[in-house]
Amino acid sequence: DASDIEKGTYPHFMLKEIDEQPLVLRKIIQKYRSEKGELEIDQEIVKAVNESDRIYIIAAGTSYHAGLVGKQFIEKLAAVPVEVHIASEFGYNMPLLSAKPLFIFISQSGETADSRAVLVQIKELGHKALTITNVPGSTLSREADFTLLLHAGPEIAVASTKAYTAQLAVLSILAEVVARSKGKEIGFDLSRELGIAANAMEILCDSKEEFEKMAHEYVSTTRNAFFIGRGVDYYVCLEGSLKLKEISYIQAEGFAGGELKHGTIALIEDGTPIIALATQESVNLSIRGNVKEVVARGANPCIISMKGLEMADDRFVIPEVHELLTPLISVIPMQLFAYYAALHRNCDVDKPRNLAKSVTVE
Ligand code: G6P
Repeated sequence: DASDIEKGTYPHFMLKEIDEQPLVLRKIIQKYRSEKGELEIDQEIVKAVNESDRIYIIAAGTSYHAGLVGKQFIEKLAAVPVEVHIASEFGYNMPLLSAKPLFIFISQSGETADSRAVLVQIKELGHKALTITNVPGSTLSREADFTLLLHAGPEIAVASTKAYTAQLAVLSILAEVVARSKGKEIGFDLSRELGIAANAMEILCDSKEEFEKMAHEYVSTTRNAFFIGRGVDYYVCLEGSLKLKEISYIQAEGFAGGELKHGTIALIEDGTPIIALATQESVNLSIRGNVKEVVARGANPCIISMKGLEMADDRFVIPEVHELLTPLISVIPMQLFAYYAALHRNCDVDKPRNLAKSVTVE
């Protein structure tokens, strides 16, 4: 059938979509670059951000995890305060809004009912909305004031991969363009750094055998797994654990490195896999301290670090990219890890049980 053709030589859409990430990132850089070679966003959107005193990001699932990283981009580069909310919570438990809020809806499909319910509510209140989506003409795009497209191409596998990294890229570009519009010096060339990240993605996509081995070694027989990190690494851990849960049905949780000891460490047993991310210099030592705490209780550690921060016993070292952009590449080992874990367990990778690609009921 048609889907077989689209899959090409790949056994699963998910693997194909993981592999497409460097290409998608390069396409985004190109789509958002002006003739002068500067990154560019519709002036109306930049104006809306600059007129707002606070951004509210609303999303679900993987898109929510992208929002958490997006908050870092926007706050650190553009100095606009950002709150990130789960759509289904925001709807009936609306926080106290600032005087001039701007809403950003992040949604691969643009059809998620939970997010749409919030969009309807905030439009009734007279607020402006920007939708970041992969699907032009989708409901969330049509009903918002502005749209930024992900240009990721159709994402078929239920577990989102390339849409997540595309969301991060577009959010980083939005943050940079807003920063520049305010005359803020961010200190690096984002489009160059995104290009470096695309090359790094390629290297990771070429390391599949390594991640297949890792998945086999760590989670092929385990019933649970923990992912720990600090700062943006923590947000990637949330996404990494969601990927593993979604397609391999292994119970997995992402934790802030320092929080595990406040309760969840009770679950650590002999051999419990702990996947730790160490891509941030400022927390490199503290996350390793957290790994030691669980290793002392029998955990089986799998440390994924970034070049320049690596130490003996790290299981994998990802190429160096700008410290703000590490989530764009550190997520790839997590995606591949989940993919191979699901394969080892004979799970239906592209169509996991109980899940839908887009959930159009509240
Ligand atoms: C569903 C999918 C998830 C996705 C979420 C949000 O639950 O299974 O993979 O992250 O919806 O979807 P959206 O299209 O709004 O990004």
